[in-house]
Amino acid sequence: MVGDWLEAALAAVYGEQGVWTGGQGRRYAAALDALSAWAGPGPARFFRAPGRVNLIGEHTDYNHGYVMPMALDKDILLVARPRSDAVVNLWNVEPERFPARTFVISAEIPPSPLGDWANYVKAAAQAVRRAAGRELRGADIVASGPAPWGVPPAAGLSSSSALTVVAALAFAALNDLALPKLALARLCSEAEWYVGTRGGIMDQFISILAERDRALLLDCRPQPGERPDAPRYEMRPVPLPAGYRFVIFNSAVPREKTKSQFNVRVAECRIGVALLRRRSPGITHLRDISAEALGLSQAAVLALLDDLLPEATTRQALAVQRVLDDALNAMFADFRLEEDQVYRVRRRCRHVITENARVLASEAALAAGDVQRFGALMNAAHESMSRDYEASCPEVDLLADLCRACEGVLGARVTGAGWGGCVVAFVAADAAADVLAQVTARYRAATGLPGEGFVCASAPGAGEVTV
Ligand code: GLA
Repeated sequence: MVGDWLEAALAAVYGEQGVWTGGQGRRYAAALDALSAWAGPGPARFFRAPGRVNLIGEHTDYNHGYVMPMALDKDILLVARPRSDAVVNLWNVEPERFPARTFVISAEIPPSPLGDWANYVKAAAQAVRRAAGRELRGADIVASGPAPWGVPPAAGLSSSSALTVVAALAFAALNDLALPKLALARLCSEAEWYVGTRGGIMDQFISILAERDRALLLDCRPQPGERPDAPRYEMRPVPLPAGYRFVIFNSAVPREKTKSQFNVRVAECRIGVALLRRRSPGITHLRDISAEALGLSQAAVLALLDDLLPEATTRQALAVQRVLDDALNAMFADFRLEEDQVYRVRRRCRHVITENARVLASEAALAAGDVQRFGALMNAAHESMSRDYEASCPEVDLLADLCRACEGVLGARVTGAGWGGCVVAFVAADAAADVLAQVTARYRAATGLPGEGFVCASAPGAGEVTV
């Protein structure tokens, strides 16, 4: 069989699941065949980077808070062969959906139009080029991410970060550039700002640092490290509870709002910080506001937000109140506050602050085996994303409700940036298959959308697959 020669190498990555690795073998072999067909025969190297599901802790990472993601066994695969010039020829095994692209690696690569898939590869190439401080060799590359092995695109499961990560891995390896995992994770996080959204570090960190059968409690606040440009991050593996599964449902709602709304949320959090700093100048990120840090009850912290933060404000109102001072201007050096945008500061900050507390409570609940409490925290996180962060939508709220109505479901919440995308449900293992079938059928009947789902399996972090 065509995939047999890869079986042993792939079992080490994907686990000993015969049919599964057999299918993976065909996928790897097909990607190599595609490279031979498009770029000519010859040796090539394989790299993979997984997507992720975030179990709890949404929109906290760029506020220096806590997240708890887990890498999926769905990944983006690259098969790549170095070139002697700096040209990158990029193909995809789904050429209608992701057309072929060509570009030249430099320290300033002109982006393709907004939303083009090549931008994630360009982002990686530019960042690795800058880190190397020298010219890089380009590559002939085929990317592969179709179902069921690939990360579903535009679903909030980090297919784009997986592409950035796997491309950065490939460019570094093909150019003999040794980048420690943490350095690569930071490089990829910042690299992705190239596409225009000011995301945090979660997606790239979990894609690179994941361990099989573990989620990761990641503290997104950089701590002083060996050098100023090499901070440390605190992270703790979170064993997955035995007897339970995470089931993911894709709402299949077009996620048009994500790109525009994401940066508005980042701005709302930064405005909140600027306003809170007038009372407590030591605050640099919303992470600094917590019951423990302030020595208050959670209710008192929320009352403080009611006192200090406006429900809504605008750039103009902030200017009149002289809030757009040097501190705030410095915070917005990298992008602008829009003239006609209403910023709903208080409820956004409330989400971030309560979400940080929920992540830490989740870690404690799982450590204590209190699965009911963890489920309840997931439900509360969904309400907060929906009401306070306004990053859900009716279809995703419906999905979460449909999940909770099923026997065996302990909690369900929107995962990822939101505005569509996926819901993750925490389910008793013996109910997982039924819940998957019931929720999918009911969601399709109610919305007419092709929502689908799967039971999660975890995977190790990104790397080269040596065959
Ligand atoms: C996107 C970003 C992440 C994070 C999530 C929301 O996935 O890339 O950094 O902010 O949204 O939690």
